[in-house]
Amino acid sequence: MSDTAFDLVVIGSGPGGYVAAIRAAQLGLRTACVEKRGPLGGTCLNVGCIPSKALLHSSHHFAMAGQEFAEHGIAFGKLDLDLAAMMARKEKVVDELTKGIAFLFKKNKVTHFTGLGRIDAPGKVAVVEEGGKETALTAKNIVIASGSDVAPLPGVAIDEKKILSSTGALSLPKVPKRLAVIGAGVIGLELGSVWRRLGAEVTVFEYLDRILMPMDGELAKGAKKILTKQGLQFELGVKVTAAKATKQGVEIAFEAAKGGDAKTLVADAVLVAIGRVPYTEGLGLEKAGVATDAKGRVEIDAHFQTNVKGIYAIGDVVRGAMLAHKAEDEGIAVAEILAGQAGHVNYDAIPGVVYTWPEIAAVGKTEEELKAAGVAYKTGKFPFQANSRGRTSGDLEGFVKILADEKTDRVLGVHIIGPAAGELIGEAGLALEFGASAEDIARTCHAHPGYGEAVKEAALAVEGRAIHA
Ligand code: NAI
Repeated sequence: MSDTAFDLVVIGSGPGGYVAAIRAAQLGLRTACVEKRGPLGGTCLNVGCIPSKALLHSSHHFAMAGQEFAEHGIAFGKLDLDLAAMMARKEKVVDELTKGIAFLFKKNKVTHFTGLGRIDAPGKVAVVEEGGKETALTAKNIVIASGSDVAPLPGVAIDEKKILSSTGALSLPKVPKRLAVIGAGVIGLELGSVWRRLGAEVTVFEYLDRILMPMDGELAKGAKKILTKQGLQFELGVKVTAAKATKQGVEIAFEAAKGGDAKTLVADAVLVAIGRVPYTEGLGLEKAGVATDAKGRVEIDAHFQTNVKGIYAIGDVVRGAMLAHKAEDEGIAVAEILAGQAGHVNYDAIPGVVYTWPEIAAVGKTEEELKAAGVAYKTGKFPFQANSRGRTSGDLEGFVKILADEKTDRVLGVHIIGPAAGELIGEAGLALEFGASAEDIARTCHAHPGYGEAVKEAALAVEGRAIHA
């Protein structure tokens, strides 16, 4: 085989693409991955999950130092913020992880091409470098994993200085005195939390009359209460109609979602976080005859194949939740299918985590979904107030809620707001995968003292027999 002939060419090296490439190579396919960015890792590693989690972690330390250390008997002089050092640490984390993927590509013999991947025909991909140089690749199969981009808001032109997308909000050179956030979704709450902790006054505008749609309503209500206590201000049921950069900062125009008088708010910066859209620019989908739906998503069948034989798609560019771990699992599945195995993703057991503090995490059905489907269910709830590990660490806010089928006791959904909820949800995902009952969780020994005991107690509470509440 020549240097440009492959069994599989993956376009995009985000969590979907790089995982698909590695798994395919592990299974013996001669694999290449085409990435237009210099570093590998896509949005998640470069300007998404990883840098935001680094800043969330740093800013959490800062908030704890300012608000909680004294209670632990830790005293120091004046608390100072070195934002440049915090940003440099974030960059270092990103750099190490993106290089980690390059290492994994070498180890697994995945060939990496830098440039925009364009599909010229089934089995043919051109790598277009920035200077215009093109390299023609041939591939038995192609996987599109080109990800997503920031959803634009009409009337609001992102300049990444004062009018920011998540990318700009991850690299501000100084803490804005006043930050407006449009959208009370995952990005709005995570990055709103970062800048609030570092001292900004933060106002979050949300079109709906609740935050964190489509999470469980009770969870979202609990989250709003806690985040409000932390100083985030919410304007719910309003739509932002314009944001204009001025000398003083940004003027934001908003009105009631159902219509009403226009109001304005002046902030130093505004973050637009109203969702993401599939990214297919320059891919050549039309020419290749690959169909997309009304939302611009690449259409696929149950085996991730598009309407064109030999062209597959996974991750944010196709239907379903725009989550790195969903993309990863699809990457594994498509590689296994291409290698003749039975790749599969269980879309009913994909966790969602919001990395605020406390964290907010869920897997399975919400109460609203169960009600709408007419499913009879039982609820078990346990508060972290009554969890001994929470007492020792001082993390007393939040609860675990388990929803189980009324007749069979099978776990249908788990919703957690609390310390390390993003880790605790792993156990719940496993319970869903194994078709566990609430009693199975309740009878599983959980280490003491641990936050996980709150999960066990919530499972006991499903039968009204929690011990510590
Ligand atoms: P989102 O879809 O989570 O939330 C956007 C919010 O903006 C919605 O609540 C919507 O009602 C609101 N909105 C839309 N137009 C508006 C307007 N004109 N005025 C006021 N509010 C308006 O989108 P987000 O937060 O931008 O995140 C994008 C994607 O990235 C999501 O799919 C999310 O799951 C993913 N993500 C996941 C993370 C995680 O797993 N921890 C972290 C960050 C992003």
